[in-house]
Amino acid sequence: MKNIVSLLNEFKKIGLTSFDGVTRCVYDENWLAAQKKYMQIASDYGLYTFVDDIGNVYATTEKNLGQKVFILSGSHMDTVINGGPLDGVYGTLASLISIGTLMKKFGHPKIPLVAVSFSEEEGSRFNTAFTGSRYLMNKLEDTVYGLRDHEGLSFNHARQNAVTQLKELASELKATGLIHAFIELHIEQGPILEKKRQDIGIVTDIVGQKKLLIKCYGVANHAGTTPMNMRCDAMKKAVTLIHQLYAVLDEFVALRYTIGQIRVQPNAANVIPSEVDFSLDLRHKSQKRLDDAFTAVKELTELNDSILTIMTDVNAIKLSDQLANNSALAAQYHNSAYQSLISGAGHDAQIIAKYVPTTMIFVPSIKGNSHSPSENTKSEHLVNGQLVLQQALYQLAYI
Ligand code: GLV
Ligand code: MN
Ligand code: MN
Ligand code: MN
Repeated sequence: MKNIVSLLNEFKKIGLTSFDGVTRCVYDENWLAAQKKYMQIASDYGLYTFVDDIGNVYATTEKNLGQKVFILSGSHMDTVINGGPLDGVYGTLASLISIGTLMKKFGHPKIPLVAVSFSEEEGSRFNTAFTGSRYLMNKLEDTVYGLRDHEGLSFNHARQNAVTQLKELASELKATGLIHAFIELHIEQGPILEKKRQDIGIVTDIVGQKKLLIKCYGVANHAGTTPMNMRCDAMKKAVTLIHQLYAVLDEFVALRYTIGQIRVQPNAANVIPSEVDFSLDLRHKSQKRLDDAFTAVKELTELNDSILTIMTDVNAIKLSDQLANNSALAAQYHNSAYQSLISGAGHDAQIIAKYVPTTMIFVPSIKGNSHSPSENTKSEHLVNGQLVLQQALYQLAYI
């Protein structure tokens, strides 16, 4: 069987862009090819593959999970636009290899193991995120199905088309038992582990995150004939508001905020903009501070006559101490230098941790780069992370 590094090289080709990044948005053809390849690898390991109605793909050690309690491990298969080759897919493939290897070496575990490749976490196609893990936890609101991508295609339409194809290859997951534990392996996506020369990070907390969409309205008119004092210019309103937002949000200690996406309508050089909408991503490890920042944003948008919509809202969360200890033991087993840290990135683990004991294991990111083609991790760290995950799963499921 191939090791994690060679498999990651193969998956990098699925959705490779001309900028050397990877784009696999949920339900697109590359995403479908990647989920199918994941199923093929699972079968090669002798694992049983399943799919659910949102497009999550599972590889299990048991043919029928039924009401059995099981341990879940995995991450997401989608990427951001022109993202890196590791975010998400590292954890999906590492859990698959780990569970497949454990089955081959030691046979059936005492507690069934389930690898998962979540359909979507990044929110890069539809204006919502974590739909794979939210679906699994029965927390996906119906409105998601009506959301449309930039080409006007609905989430539900894209989903049906893709999931139907996956269902030709695997049957539907039927498991009503509780999830005993969830483990997600991921690249750090930040600079701390590299700086501190650590091999492994064990996550204690994941920051809370609110992704907002703010719309400013104007009236489209001729750029040459409309006097400056007779215009209603959505761009001018948006720029003024953005300026105020930066000033106010800078006052919040340890807040991370990003305006990373902006759209203008009708988007023509000689037409006064009728509408500008932009994203605002807010994150803080303190839920209280995050909520305070949100209140400040809400007040400013109201004062500026703009419309604010919450696209994603996930609370800051503490992960399981007990499972962190288990991960630490696994790191020690592999003589890895490890430390605890907080995740500033969003992860499926934070959706699941609300209901199930959850832990996250990080490996270093070179220069802390992520969500970009320069995202990378040393091969030795990728291999070691997979082995630490495998040991952590062994300790939970076999002993
Ligand atoms: C996604 O990876 C995020 O943290 O926004
Ligand atoms: Mn990720
Ligand atoms: Mn990501
Ligand atoms: Mn993420």
